[in-house]
Amino acid sequence: MSAQTASGKALRLGIAGLGTVGIGVVKIVQRHAEMLEARTGRPVVITAVSARDRSKNRDADLSEYAWETDPVALATRDDVDVFVELMGGHEGAAKDAMLAALKAGKDVVTANKALLAHHGQALAELAETEGRVIRFEAAVAGGIPVIKTLTEGLAGNRLRRVMGVMNGTCNYILTRMEDAGLPYDVVFEEANQLGYLEADPNLDVGGIDAGHKLAILASIAFGTKVAFDHVQLEGIGRISIDDIRRASDMGYKIKLLGVAQMTGRGLEQRMTPCLVPASSPLGQLTGGTNMVVLEGDSVGQIVLRGAGAGEGPTASAVMGDVLDIARGLRLATFGQPATTLEEAQPAVSAAPAAYYLRLNLMDKPGALAKVAAVLGEAGISISRMRQYGHADTAAPVLIVTHKTTRDAIDLAVGNFLPTGVVEGDAIAIRIEEL
Ligand code: NAP
Ligand code: HSE
Repeated sequence: MSAQTASGKALRLGIAGLGTVGIGVVKIVQRHAEMLEARTGRPVVITAVSARDRSKNRDADLSEYAWETDPVALATRDDVDVFVELMGGHEGAAKDAMLAALKAGKDVVTANKALLAHHGQALAELAETEGRVIRFEAAVAGGIPVIKTLTEGLAGNRLRRVMGVMNGTCNYILTRMEDAGLPYDVVFEEANQLGYLEADPNLDVGGIDAGHKLAILASIAFGTKVAFDHVQLEGIGRISIDDIRRASDMGYKIKLLGVAQMTGRGLEQRMTPCLVPASSPLGQLTGGTNMVVLEGDSVGQIVLRGAGAGEGPTASAVMGDVLDIARGLRLATFGQPATTLEEAQPAVSAAPAAYYLRLNLMDKPGALAKVAAVLGEAGISISRMRQYGHADTAAPVLIVTHKTTRDAIDLAVGNFLPTGVVEGDAIAIRIEEL
């Protein structure tokens, strides 16, 4: 326990960003003041806050706090010990204020996965030079304490694989499409109305937000510099209600699944739609809930499940970080000194996997044989196949392959159209082994 803690000196927070998460943090500090002091041995107080529009009606009493319109001014105030960045965005105000805070000798707590995914290494190095800490539990999987689990609980393990569903909006859209039998566009609009989507919806449905989170976890798990640019990304926009229903017929669910693993060839990071067994924990995950699966050489597999977003869960994670600082816990940003993190050698996933293929087969003699021939020529063996009734000129055909490579699948998909018996593009989705 630090000398500061023993003296019971207050820990003073400056909070920039008074939206969903910021107001959630204010409420916890106000509601649980006595409990926070009892747990850390010192008062945890807010001294100053910042947002763009001071006149906005917010769901908390802010009258006791100094107001700064400029977050950099807030970050460098003498009466702020910890700068709590809850504005968002990987450039501009959030980045400028965080840099200013570290240089001014403040510790930083943030929920900003985009900023860490793009500038995590530089920020971590600056924090170390300045003798400060950056904590970011809320940046990955909202209320689930996955950063703490990786950096502390599993610190004695060599991590084998990190995977999970880390974007609640995508999981909501996919499960709602299935439950209500609604097409993607309708459910997307529903999610929009419910306020689930980021200001730029492509961050969610394009897989970018979840890719940011995966890159952060991979850095901690494998001791490498955050390498978001090397995450293989694919969103959920091309997943149709037909795919969801038919995958379900074959015993699978479609998830936007992140997988990071260190192989002999380098670091694989992919955030793509995958099929997972319907009976698996990931297959049973519904709505906006997140799930992270961690595999270590000693511990085996750990599954963490919980709310990945929202005021309460995200503020809970922010407060966990604040209290660690209040207690004097000072960990390196990504679990080890930033200068010892290695450059990640990017590797494209070459490990064979089974694939789900959906194609529209024309009602012509020998059509199925031609498709089978294309697969055979690509070295792909069929495990299961199902043909549905003809609608007009074509019938949907589903094929589950035996294990094969992505290259072989891409070759086959490219060769379907020239056969003249397949209508439109075939869909190929990897089936993930859990
Ligand atoms: P939000 O509701 O949009 O709130 C953003 C806040 O930042 C607003 O109060 C806004 O001010 C303020 N702000 C934005 N730009 C600013 C600037 N240039 N100067 C001063 N203030 C500025 O966002 P949020 O949902 O709370 O998210 C905050 C952070 O948490 C983001 O990094 C996000 O990715 C992360 N996060 C959010 C969730 C979640 O469930 N919402 C979950 C995990 C992580 P005004 O109110 O005046 O406009
Ligand atoms: N847009 C994110 C999600 C918010 O849907 O999971 C939490 O990071």
